[in-house]
This record gives sequence, C-alpha cells and structure tokens, in this order.
Amino acid sequence: MTGAAQGYLSLAISTDEGMGPADDCYICSATTSGGSTIVFSSAYLTGESPPTILNPITTNVQSSVTNGIMTCTFTRPISVSKTVSGNNVTWDVSKQSFNVLFAEGNVTVGGGTTYHSVRKHTHGAFNLLKPKDRLLMESILLPSRYSLPFCCSPAPPRVDK
Ligand code: HEM
Repeated sequence: MTGAAQGYLSLAISTDEGMGPADDCYICSATTSGGSTIVFSSAYLTGESPPTILNPITTNVQSSVTNGIMTCTFTRPISVSKTVSGNNVTWDVSKQSFNVLFAEGNVTVGGGTTYHSVRKHTHGAFNLLKPKDRLLMESILLPSRYSLPFCCSPAPPRVDK
C-alpha cells in the first residue's frame, strides 16, 4: 500500500463495505514525521471506531519513503484467524469473497490511529485471488495522487481471465 509518509496506511478485508463487525486489518504507521520509523501491525475492526491492534508484524515487511510518499509491503497468509469479541473469526481468501477497505490518516504521539483523512472501499465482495477482480479493485482504490495502494506479489498477469 502507498500513501503519505506521515501517519498510517491501512488495508482491511471485510465481507461488507463498512468497518466491522469483524474485519481483518493491517496497519503501517510512520510514527515519526518523514517515515524514519515505520511499524506494521496486525489488527481488526469491529465498527466505526479505532482498530484493535493485536501485535506488530516484523517478518516479510518492507517499507520505503520517496518524496513524501510511503510504500509499505507485507504478506498475509491465505487464511488468518483472530479472536474478535470472544469469537474465533477466520478470514480465508481461498474460500470467501471480501471487499477491500483502505484508509490513511494521522497517528497520535503514541502511534495510535486517528479518524482517517482518506478512506475507500471496493463495491461488492470479490475473490482476492482472481487477477481480473484484483485489477478492478486496484482501479477503485487507486487514489489519484498516489500509485496503487494495494499490490500483489507476484504481480498478477495484466490480462482478463
Ligand atoms: C481511529 C480510527 C478510525 C475511526 C474513528 C473511524 C471512523 C469511521 C467512521 C465514523 C466512518 C463512517 C463514515 C465516515 O465518517 O467516513 C468510517 C468509515 C470508513 N472507515 Fe473508518 N475509522 C477508523 C479507522 C479505519 C481504518 C483503520 C480503516 C481501515 C481500512 C477504516 C476504513 C473505513 C472505510 C473504508 C470507511 C467507509 C465505509 C463505508 O462507506 O461504509 N477506518 N470510519
């Protein structure tokens, strides 16, 4: 994901188009201005409120800042389970369709996320593993001033299937 080098960038997957009731969420935060300290976190969303942060992610993450634009790359297992409000919730992208939610905003001095300045979501749950649908998602989420907020590794073939 790509955005301003101040504050946080976040992606979440959700069965609907809004925050919560149980969305798998990932956050990349520049805790100092200019992106010299960038922290990745795993989290979840239960509603239109600050995400619940679970733990920092330190493996398979990459970040860079160029001309005030921050790029954060992370990998997520195909299937992830988290305990949300006492219930075990599994988000398996090989079995379920999801919307993708994107947000960016400022962080507090302590690194906490604040209400977003930009937020976007796809319209209609789709198969994240299907290149055609992924391209559609990228075009919806693409903020005009940035490059793609969501990238895939390996990159999907640029053809419709
Ligand atoms: C302090 C943190 C946050 C607060 C207080 C918050 C609050 C809200 C509120 C009140 C709305 C309702 C519509 C609006 O005002 O724009 C909203 C919408 C939205 N939020 Fe958050 N949010 C937070 C963090 C996040 C994060 C981390 C994401 C992750 C991707 C996110 C994604 C979205 C999206 C995509 C929408 C639009 C949903 C729709 O159209 O129904 N938010 N948020």
